[in-house]
Amino acid sequence: MKKDLIFAKPVDQISEFVFDEHVVNVFSDMIKRSVPGYDVVISMIGVLAEQYAQPGSNCYDLGCSTGAVTLVMRHRIRKKIAKIISIDNSQAMVDRCKVNVLNDKMIIPVEVMLADIVDVDVENASIVTLNFTLQFVDIEKRVDVLNNIYSGLLKEGVLVLSEKIRFDNKEEEKFQMDMHDNFKKLNGYSDLEISQKRTALENVLVPETLSTHIDRLKSTGFSRVYAWFQTFNFVSIVAFK
Ligand SMILES: C[S@@+](CC[C@H](N)C(=O)[O-])C[C@H]1O[C@@H](n2cnc3c(N)ncnc32)[C@H](O)[C@@H]1O
Repeated sequence: MKKDLIFAKPVDQISEFVFDEHVVNVFSDMIKRSVPGYDVVISMIGVLAEQYAQPGSNCYDLGCSTGAVTLVMRHRIRKKIAKIISIDNSQAMVDRCKVNVLNDKMIIPVEVMLADIVDVDVENASIVTLNFTLQFVDIEKRVDVLNNIYSGLLKEGVLVLSEKIRFDNKEEEKFQMDMHDNFKKLNGYSDLEISQKRTALENVLVPETLSTHIDRLKSTGFSRVYAWFQTFNFVSIVAFK
């Protein structure tokens, strides 16, 4: 696994974070050292997928990056589903995801597509995942993404939504952010790396509160919405149609 050193050197003018080939090359290391509980979330998505995948349906990995969710679903699902559809709007991510799928020997068909999840029609879906992806979509377009997912889900279909969140309570916000910074420091990131990356992500990753997510999912029509995972300011929610 190649080490993430993208923000290790001081930069005069920090540009907005993009998921380009430099990020792709270190993505696995970057996300594990930056998102507390990432590995747990990935493997539990496998458990959820195994439980809720429906025969003949599609399973979607929206914002698939290099394919961690795609591959865990492919390995865990035992029912005869139609296919896994993995979508990302970064060409570099899609190219890497395709290589990772080709190198994987499981038999469930996988279609990897370059597309914006705002424009994609979800169809015949039993499971849809948005694993740390909705946070990168313009806030006003997030409801459209969820409406589209809801209408493409089958009865009893499931959305797994994982997000970085913010907190209305200032003391809690400070505690959770401090703990997240400590997590990154313990994983070897310097203060400079943490602060330069924060600047690069400022207008790119826009977190919302847990209650905003839950309320939006409920008003989209999801009947049961449960937060099943939280570590500091990272949560994962499961929503049932
Ligand atoms: C933090 S990564 C997701 C991690 C991945 N789901 C995983 O579990 O390893 C966010 C991904 O979402 C993609 N993305 C962001 N906005 C998108 C959009 N509007 N449509 C499609 N993909 C998007 C980015 O290119 C990036 O690969």
